[in-house]
Amino acid sequence: MGSGVKRKKTILDIRKMKSDGVKISMLTCYDYPTARILDDSGIDILLVGDSVGVVFSGYDTTLPVTMEEMIYHSRAVARAKPKSLLVADLPFLSYQTDVRDARINAGRLVKDGGVEAVKLEGGENIIGSIKAIVDMDIPVMAHIGLTPQSIHRMGGYKIQGKSERAGEQLLADALAVQSAGAFAVVLEGIPLKLAAKITAELEIPTIGIGAGPFCDGQVLVIHDILGLCEKYSPKFVKQYADVKSIISDAAGRFVAEVKAGEFPTDDHSFH
Ligand code: KIV
Repeated sequence: MGSGVKRKKTILDIRKMKSDGVKISMLTCYDYPTARILDDSGIDILLVGDSVGVVFSGYDTTLPVTMEEMIYHSRAVARAKPKSLLVADLPFLSYQTDVRDARINAGRLVKDGGVEAVKLEGGENIIGSIKAIVDMDIPVMAHIGLTPQSIHRMGGYKIQGKSERAGEQLLADALAVQSAGAFAVVLEGIPLKLAAKITAELEIPTIGIGAGPFCDGQVLVIHDILGLCEKYSPKFVKQYADVKSIISDAAGRFVAEVKAGEFPTDDHSFH
């Protein structure tokens, strides 16, 4: 669309960005006002990540996040009618059990949550679910490498694919999710050379987080880039703003002005 009017982005645009050599930007988003702001920034993809459980709800891991929570946050973001592609995570236990669960829960995120694609974690072990969801015309973004829903198998949030064998398995996983019909794949927490190799081998775009600069795109968690995460900050995070200080300062001034009787003034009162 011409004349500066932003057109809705689809998975076709995202796939074309790889062939055109245009880098893809993705940020997580869990609420309406942030969705409006991020969409105006020109972000390509908004991800309602299950990281919402950790950075928003205060859980220790993403494992307790429910379908209801994902739908609630997806709806809030969808209400902003973003021009960016809207993707939501299938939470733990919503797709690993069987293909029927995967289909129903992917369908709920689209039908009730208003998203345009779903993301799920896993490689060769999960291609049955990817195929089943793609077969019902719901686009799937895959996610391999450091997959937070597998924290107990990995023994913590550890870089994956460091040995030659583990690297070969991740390449096999990437090729498997592509063959199963995924339109893109997140590569999380893997060595940059391995990410470069996978990116070169795949036709679909790779979107990296802690996977170096050679991926087709990059994703970060919004709370991390805004400096709102206290728990821990991995090496791959770049903090672009200190919003915590801004909130803290504003709240502190409000408290001080209320205590001093300086707020509200006549300007904020009715006669
Ligand atoms: O849940 C999430 O936020 C994610 C991204 C970090 C890729 O899966």
